[in-house]
Amino acid sequence: MFVDRVLSGMRPTGALHLGHYQGVLKNWLDLQNEYECYFFVADWHALTTHYETPSILEENVWDMLIDWLAAGVDPSQAVLFIQSKVPEHAELHLLLSMITPLGWLERVPSFKDQQEKLTQRDLSTYGFLGYPLLQASDILIYRANLVPVGEDQVPHIEFTREIARRFNHIYGKDVNYEKKAKEAIKKLGSKRGKLYQKMLNRYQEQGDLDGLAEGRALLEEASNLSIGDRERLFGYLEGGGKVILSEPKALLTKAAKMPGIDGQKMSKSYDNAISLRDDSKTIEKKIRTMPTDPARVRRTDPGEPENCPVWQYHKIYSDPDTQKWVDVGCRSAGIGCLDCKQPIVDSIKKELAPIRERALKYEEDPAALRNIMADGCDRARKIVSDTMRDVKDAIGTSYF
Ligand code: TRP
Ligand code: SF4
Repeated sequence: MFVDRVLSGMRPTGALHLGHYQGVLKNWLDLQNEYECYFFVADWHALTTHYETPSILEENVWDMLIDWLAAGVDPSQAVLFIQSKVPEHAELHLLLSMITPLGWLERVPSFKDQQEKLTQRDLSTYGFLGYPLLQASDILIYRANLVPVGEDQVPHIEFTREIARRFNHIYGKDVNYEKKAKEAIKKLGSKRGKLYQKMLNRYQEQGDLDGLAEGRALLEEASNLSIGDRERLFGYLEGGGKVILSEPKALLTKAAKMPGIDGQKMSKSYDNAISLRDDSKTIEKKIRTMPTDPARVRRTDPGEPENCPVWQYHKIYSDPDTQKWVDVGCRSAGIGCLDCKQPIVDSIKKELAPIRERALKYEEDPAALRNIMADGCDRARKIVSDTMRDVKDAIGTSYF
């Protein structure tokens, strides 16, 4: 039976917060029950933007891994590893770089976005331009078909699919396939046949996606083709042939609904996060000092939950009865904001207590953590050796 294979990576940002838990990790916990899962620390990706501050990398890696495990990511269900401990990722990255048109990389939206956003960093490096290709290698080397990511990463998955297609086109053709495709092109007639060939070259040699779109449109209109020939030419245009690297799909994770304690996006750098390892006192203090609906200046002023970040937390943590109690009590000034916050304090404390306890266990036993990761990295290396053999066979660098 075919089992879906899931792969996802996270850059090592250090200790994680509730936003990561609600937005990403809980999703991973569901996935690991259902699929063959590979979760890894993208430490090389961190270096593409933070190459000047390597000192924080190692600590961040361990801190993040502790939080994965504490949250319930289970090394007996999912393979956990560190990208740089599986150097084949870099080998595939190099081989794929040979066939990657520069224009494809320059067109990935995160390239310009990040350069504009992170102005204090020098991101005009080769490594940063190659970020999406490294990510493509991460995915393709495991032949993962599902990649859970947020909205912002979807262009990277689309890019990965294009790289896989291009690779298969260049290295996956057998002689007959090519011959049949050529015959089918003849059937298009000389004018349309030439146009098709032109679109194909534009797409495959220059990486021009309009060439792909126009070529497809041309085939849609070619009514004299048999279904078989039409499919063949669609595949030939896209770079079909033997599938050596398979195309993954993005498994879209809904944007986290969990704002920070100031109502903005939760982020360590905004200093508005509840960390997964915060103790009860800290949780209490953070929630109690959370801003509320600015219109509720006095206890007797009625409020509007939709204007209050605390209400967002109730939407995640409270049952319908409690939500009703908040809604009525807030609008009628029947409850105070501290009353309103108490059930949140209780829920978050309850959710984080076992996580903190498990984290403590790993903090105190770094050797256990290292063993888990050494084992995961071994398993990952075994999997990738298959793909690399096929890739090298196809390219012609197997030798012996
Ligand atoms: N770019 C991803 C992020 O910033 C991290 C990542 C690297 C990744 N390689 C990956 C995610 C492969 C999924 C699959 O979140
Ligand atoms: Fe916010 Fe609750 Fe206060 Fe209303 S009662 S303003 S929802 S904290």
